[in-house]
Amino acid sequence: MGIEFFEEDRIFKLDTPRSSYIISIVDEENFIGHAYYGKKCRDHHLGYLCRTKEAPFVPSKNARDRLSFLDAFPFEYSTHGLGDYRESCISVKAPGGQSAVSFGYTGHRIYKGKPKLEGLPATFGTEEECSTLELYCEDKVLNMEATLFYSVFEDTDVIARSVKITNKGKEPFYLTKALSACLELDDQDFELLTMHGSWARERKIQYRKVGYGQQSVASLRGESSHQDHPFIALKAGDATQERGDVYGMHFVYSGNFFAQAEKNQFDTVRAVMGINPKDFCWKLGEGESFQTPEAVLVYSSEGIDGMTTSLHKLYRKHLIRGEYRNKKRPILINNWEATYFDFNTEKLLQIAKQASELGIEMLVMDDGWFGKRNDDNTSLGDWDVNEEKLEGGLKHLVDEVNRLGMKFGIWFEPEMISPDSELYRVHPDWAIAVPGREPGRARNQYVLDLSRKEVREHTYESIAKILRSANIEYVKWDMNRPLSDIGSVKLEADRQGELFHRYVLGVYELQERLITEFPHLLLENCSGGGARFDPGMLYYSPQIWCSDDADAIERLSIQEGTAMIYPLSTMGAHVSDCPNHTVGRVTPFETRGYVALAGTFGYELDVTKIPQEDREQIPEQIKMYHKYNDLVREGEYYRIASYSVNKEYDCYMVVSEDQREALVTFVQVLNRPNWKSRRIKLKGLSAELDYAVEGEGEVYAGDTLMNAGILIENPWGDFKGKLIHLTAR
Ligand code: GLA
Repeated sequence: MGIEFFEEDRIFKLDTPRSSYIISIVDEENFIGHAYYGKKCRDHHLGYLCRTKEAPFVPSKNARDRLSFLDAFPFEYSTHGLGDYRESCISVKAPGGQSAVSFGYTGHRIYKGKPKLEGLPATFGTEEECSTLELYCEDKVLNMEATLFYSVFEDTDVIARSVKITNKGKEPFYLTKALSACLELDDQDFELLTMHGSWARERKIQYRKVGYGQQSVASLRGESSHQDHPFIALKAGDATQERGDVYGMHFVYSGNFFAQAEKNQFDTVRAVMGINPKDFCWKLGEGESFQTPEAVLVYSSEGIDGMTTSLHKLYRKHLIRGEYRNKKRPILINNWEATYFDFNTEKLLQIAKQASELGIEMLVMDDGWFGKRNDDNTSLGDWDVNEEKLEGGLKHLVDEVNRLGMKFGIWFEPEMISPDSELYRVHPDWAIAVPGREPGRARNQYVLDLSRKEVREHTYESIAKILRSANIEYVKWDMNRPLSDIGSVKLEADRQGELFHRYVLGVYELQERLITEFPHLLLENCSGGGARFDPGMLYYSPQIWCSDDADAIERLSIQEGTAMIYPLSTMGAHVSDCPNHTVGRVTPFETRGYVALAGTFGYELDVTKIPQEDREQIPEQIKMYHKYNDLVREGEYYRIASYSVNKEYDCYMVVSEDQREALVTFVQVLNRPNWKSRRIKLKGLSAELDYAVEGEGEVYAGDTLMNAGILIENPWGDFKGKLIHLTAR
């Protein structure tokens, strides 16, 4: 495993446990070619896959057809404007105004471990856990140097890539595009897997055939977004959930992104990923560098399941940080759907008292506790406690909640400013805006210009002062609108194209500062539900609110998409009120519990007002959470059946690392009359072990459960769920 350089052949071989990735340096100009990525090969002699021994050959042997070479060669990092007409990874505005870029290899360094990316979230690992290749290349005409970073992990089939570009000359130039990764593959009748949605219906899975031309997903909203997701995968035509080649690319970034698959004239597919080049222009002065965010590449020969397992492992072990990364989270009750803005100390304490008696462990006070915010039109930016609502102050409330044996958490939306706020009256220029245009409002709010140091400073201090004032152990960090009207009064005209990225860097700086000053804090990110659920945010918070739609049935497909690429421990999921506030659906309290169990678990309802028979179920649900959460958080997740596909039922399971325990969740969405029981084939168990089914007394062999499966009887009624708990004998 690890990384090797074979000097004679000018080949780099990067190995993970089950995959190989081969880079070949080609011809006198030192083109950096991508030879192979796929199932592990013992041998490194795979440079032939770059096809330089067939027409159009390399430029030194066939200069007359240089363009044909450039347009067919599988580049590791595609260049621009010189004859490769496929998607480029980089382009510039040179001092003379031209856009062309070309790179030749100049050297490399291989070492154990992995460097940090200054100011950016990134995966990490010790010297035992990963190794890194830095490939150096240059464009002599532009005086530009680029370092291509590749880190491979010892325990998961992932390669992390990023790029650093440096201006080695005296004159400044502008980067107009700087993507993070490029992948060239021979077509395997690929399907492109992407995730899409909207508010309240995030990360719905879509497959489409990769045809000729370009198919892309992107965000220009300043956040990863509800609509598209910074993830693509190429699934071979013959691959399935369990078998066959799948190549995934996931972006460790929370702002504008661009990801594309492009099938070209020779039936090769180029996939790229990085910061969206639209509205991006970064000035690089003498000696200055630009570091791109990281893209992680995953290869699986075991279908979608293999990709899921590798990404889950990567994020659990090499991305999420802090005290809570492996720890059970306190069961919280959030007052948003319970009270909206209509609450005071007394009401919150009534909820807390009842909740604590039922076994709930933390009260989270959501939006509406500050300024004069009694609806969503005002006060963002005025982070002062509204003592008319919180009589006796915040500390008093927190102390009282603590006295009930519960922890206390609070909601902030630090990146925003209401036009109707004290902050805006004093600092109208702190909102992102284009001079002469009134910025567009969304939820009646503007976005703070976090590219400015003084704005970040003020923002940080105003939330930190609240956190210092009482025993607050959890923060929900919300962000309820996308960016628009991009303009900063502090950036020079030729740096306005930096604002989108500088904003994201500002968010990262604030969250890094927060978790450094408050290392015991449990941070949950949120963005109108799940508009900023991405690997970038997971570097700061171990969990993210998955969606504002907490209806158990809608959540099945939202959580299916999310769990395909993120560990269950990261998915904010609650038992919410009924009829559901988003869709009006009524589902059994029990099923709401089963579905929330697949995530962080908590409650989003007024526990003093729900029907008595529901309330009585809470202590049982809490027992269920305590019994299974270690397994859910740390186990391997497998998708068995998808309601989004079959329209009738959903089924997934988790298996402990030692394969001695498993939990299957089955939810029947619509009952089908006069129908036989469902046959479910389990996954991930040990073929050699025998498993007992809790409550049934039956014992099955592991291979029987996986090959022959079990039968689950149709429950009577719609929206009914069932858990099946298996333990090895
Ligand atoms: C967003 C969040 C909700 C809630 C509200 C408060 O929509 O996703 O959970 O916090 O804001 O305004």
